[in-house]
Amino acid sequence: MKKSDLDRRGFLKTAGVVAVSFAVPASLWSCTKEAKTSGGPTKGASAGGPSANMAAITQKVTSLEAKGLLTEAKPGPWAGKQASHLPQVKFHKGEGAVTIFTKHGMSPSHWITAHYLRDQDGKLVGFHEYVGTDKEAKNRFNLPKGTTRITAYSHCNKHGDWQAADTKTV
Ligand SMILES: [Fe+2]
Repeated sequence: MKKSDLDRRGFLKTAGVVAVSFAVPASLWSCTKEAKTSGGPTKGASAGGPSANMAAITQKVTSLEAKGLLTEAKPGPWAGKQASHLPQVKFHKGEGAVTIFTKHGMSPSHWITAHYLRDQDGKLVGFHEYVGTDKEAKNRFNLPKGTTRITAYSHCNKHGDWQAADTKTV
Protein backbone atom coordinates (compact mmCIF):
# COMPACT_ATOMS: atom_id res chain seq x y z
CA MET A 1 0.00 0.00 0.00
CA LYS A 2 1.36 3.40 -0.97
CA LYS A 3 1.81 6.18 1.48
CA SER A 4 -0.71 8.26 -0.45
CA ASP A 5 -3.30 5.52 0.07
CA LEU A 6 -2.63 5.57 3.77
CA ASP A 7 -2.94 9.33 3.80
CA ARG A 8 -6.20 9.08 1.90
CA ARG A 9 -7.55 6.48 4.31
CA GLY A 10 -6.51 8.63 7.22
CA PHE A 11 -8.29 11.53 5.63
CA LEU A 12 -11.45 9.53 4.98
CA LYS A 13 -11.43 8.24 8.53
CA THR A 14 -11.14 11.78 9.78
CA ALA A 15 -13.77 12.99 7.34
CA GLY A 16 -16.07 10.20 8.53
CA VAL A 17 -15.73 11.35 12.10
CA VAL A 18 -16.42 14.90 11.04
CA ALA A 19 -19.47 13.77 9.08
CA VAL A 20 -20.86 11.92 12.09
CA SER A 21 -20.30 14.89 14.32
CA PHE A 22 -22.21 17.04 11.86
CA ALA A 23 -25.06 14.59 11.43
CA VAL A 24 -26.83 15.61 14.59
CA PRO A 25 -26.14 19.34 14.43
CA ALA A 26 -27.35 19.39 10.83
CA SER A 27 -30.70 17.94 11.87
CA LEU A 28 -30.92 20.40 14.72
CA TRP A 29 -30.06 23.18 12.35
CA SER A 30 -32.91 22.33 10.01
CA CYS A 31 -35.39 22.49 12.88
CA THR A 32 -34.19 25.93 13.85
CA LYS A 33 -34.19 27.12 10.28
CA GLU A 34 -37.89 26.35 10.03
CA ALA A 35 -38.75 28.46 13.06
CA LYS A 36 -40.72 31.54 12.18
CA THR A 37 -39.60 34.91 13.35
CA SER A 38 -42.87 36.52 14.39
CA GLY A 39 -44.76 36.22 17.63
CA GLY A 40 -41.89 36.59 20.03
CA PRO A 41 -38.17 36.64 20.54
CA THR A 42 -37.57 33.34 18.82
CA LYS A 43 -35.66 34.29 15.73
CA GLY A 44 -33.82 31.28 14.33
CA ALA A 45 -30.08 30.90 14.47
CA SER A 46 -28.17 32.95 11.97
CA ALA A 47 -26.49 31.60 8.87
CA GLY A 48 -23.06 30.11 9.08
CA GLY A 49 -23.56 26.37 8.62
CA PRO A 50 -24.36 23.49 10.93
CA SER A 51 -21.55 24.02 13.41
CA ALA A 52 -22.35 27.69 13.83
CA ASN A 53 -26.00 26.83 14.33
CA MET A 54 -25.18 24.02 16.76
CA ALA A 55 -23.25 26.55 18.81
CA ALA A 56 -26.21 28.94 18.66
CA ILE A 57 -28.62 26.16 19.71
CA THR A 58 -26.38 25.08 22.57
CA GLN A 59 -26.24 28.68 23.71
CA LYS A 60 -30.03 28.98 23.54
CA VAL A 61 -30.55 25.82 25.56
CA THR A 62 -28.03 26.99 28.13
CA SER A 63 -29.98 30.22 28.52
CA LEU A 64 -33.30 28.31 28.77
CA GLU A 65 -31.83 26.19 31.56
CA ALA A 66 -30.18 29.10 33.37
CA LYS A 67 -33.01 29.45 35.87
CA GLY A 68 -33.14 25.73 36.59
CA LEU A 69 -35.34 22.87 35.49
CA LEU A 70 -38.86 22.15 36.71
CA THR A 71 -40.21 18.61 37.01
CA GLU A 72 -43.37 16.79 37.97
CA ALA A 73 -42.11 16.40 41.54
CA LYS A 74 -40.39 19.79 41.72
CA PRO A 75 -42.50 22.39 39.90
CA GLY A 76 -40.95 25.30 41.80
CA PRO A 77 -43.42 28.18 42.12
CA TRP A 78 -45.73 26.60 39.52
CA ALA A 79 -47.33 23.74 41.42
CA GLY A 80 -50.48 22.65 39.60
CA LYS A 81 -49.11 23.58 36.19
CA GLN A 82 -47.33 20.30 35.51
CA ALA A 83 -50.00 18.92 33.16
CA SER A 84 -49.91 21.95 30.89
CA HIS A 85 -46.13 22.29 30.79
CA LEU A 86 -44.50 18.89 30.96
CA PRO A 87 -43.80 17.59 27.45
CA GLN A 88 -45.47 14.36 26.42
CA VAL A 89 -43.39 11.89 24.45
CA LYS A 90 -44.79 9.56 21.82
CA PHE A 91 -42.21 7.09 20.57
CA HIS A 92 -42.65 5.85 16.99
CA LYS A 93 -41.34 2.33 17.24
CA GLY A 94 -39.36 1.19 14.22
CA GLU A 95 -39.12 4.72 12.83
CA GLY A 96 -36.39 6.08 15.09
CA ALA A 97 -38.53 9.08 15.85
CA VAL A 98 -40.52 10.70 18.62
CA THR A 99 -43.27 13.28 18.68
CA ILE A 100 -43.15 15.78 21.50
CA PHE A 101 -46.32 17.59 22.51
CA THR A 102 -47.06 20.03 25.31
CA LYS A 103 -50.71 20.57 26.14
CA HIS A 104 -50.37 24.30 26.54
CA GLY A 105 -52.20 27.16 24.86
CA MET A 106 -50.34 29.16 22.25
CA SER A 107 -50.69 32.95 22.09
CA PRO A 108 -48.26 35.76 21.25
CA SER A 109 -47.97 36.68 24.93
CA HIS A 110 -47.78 33.21 26.47
CA TRP A 111 -46.52 30.18 24.61
CA ILE A 112 -44.20 27.21 24.53
CA THR A 113 -41.07 28.66 22.99
CA ALA A 114 -39.11 25.45 22.42
CA HIS A 115 -38.88 21.72 22.71
CA TYR A 116 -35.55 19.99 22.89
CA LEU A 117 -34.23 16.52 23.53
CA ARG A 118 -31.20 15.02 25.16
CA ASP A 119 -30.05 11.44 24.67
CA GLN A 120 -28.90 8.90 27.26
CA ASP A 121 -25.59 10.74 27.56
CA GLY A 122 -27.11 14.15 27.99
CA LYS A 123 -26.22 15.20 24.45
CA LEU A 124 -28.61 17.49 22.59
CA VAL A 125 -30.27 15.49 19.81
CA GLY A 126 -33.23 17.67 18.88
CA PHE A 127 -34.33 21.28 19.09
CA HIS A 128 -37.38 23.05 17.75
CA GLU A 129 -38.57 26.58 18.35
CA TYR A 130 -42.18 27.75 18.25
CA VAL A 131 -43.76 31.16 17.96
CA GLY A 132 -46.86 32.37 19.75
CA THR A 133 -48.95 32.14 16.61
CA ASP A 134 -48.26 28.43 16.12
CA LYS A 135 -51.36 26.30 16.48
CA GLU A 136 -49.81 23.93 19.00
CA ALA A 137 -46.53 22.96 20.58
CA LYS A 138 -46.02 19.69 18.78
CA ASN A 139 -43.12 18.46 16.69
CA ARG A 140 -41.72 15.21 15.38
CA PHE A 141 -38.01 14.56 15.83
CA ASN A 142 -35.92 11.98 14.04
CA LEU A 143 -33.43 10.50 16.47
CA PRO A 144 -29.77 9.84 15.67
CA LYS A 145 -28.79 6.18 15.45
CA GLY A 146 -27.62 4.83 18.77
CA THR A 147 -30.18 6.77 20.78
CA THR A 148 -31.50 4.47 23.50
CA ARG A 149 -33.24 6.95 25.76
CA ILE A 150 -34.37 10.51 25.43
CA THR A 151 -35.36 13.19 27.86
CA ALA A 152 -37.73 15.85 26.57
CA TYR A 153 -37.84 19.48 27.66
CA SER A 154 -40.49 22.12 27.11
CA HIS A 155 -39.91 25.81 27.72
CA CYS A 156 -42.75 28.25 28.45
CA ASN A 157 -42.01 31.96 28.23
CA LYS A 158 -43.85 32.56 31.53
CA HIS A 159 -43.47 29.34 33.46
CA GLY A 160 -39.95 28.17 32.81
CA ASP A 161 -38.21 25.08 31.55
CA TRP A 162 -39.81 21.70 32.21
CA GLN A 163 -38.11 18.35 32.09
CA ALA A 164 -40.10 15.16 31.55
CA ALA A 165 -39.08 11.74 32.79
CA ASP A 166 -36.77 10.00 30.34
CA THR A 167 -38.20 7.61 27.78
CA LYS A 168 -36.72 4.43 26.39
CA THR A 169 -36.42 4.51 22.59
CA VAL A 170 -35.30 1.01 21.70
FE1 LIG B 1 -47.12 28.59 30.63
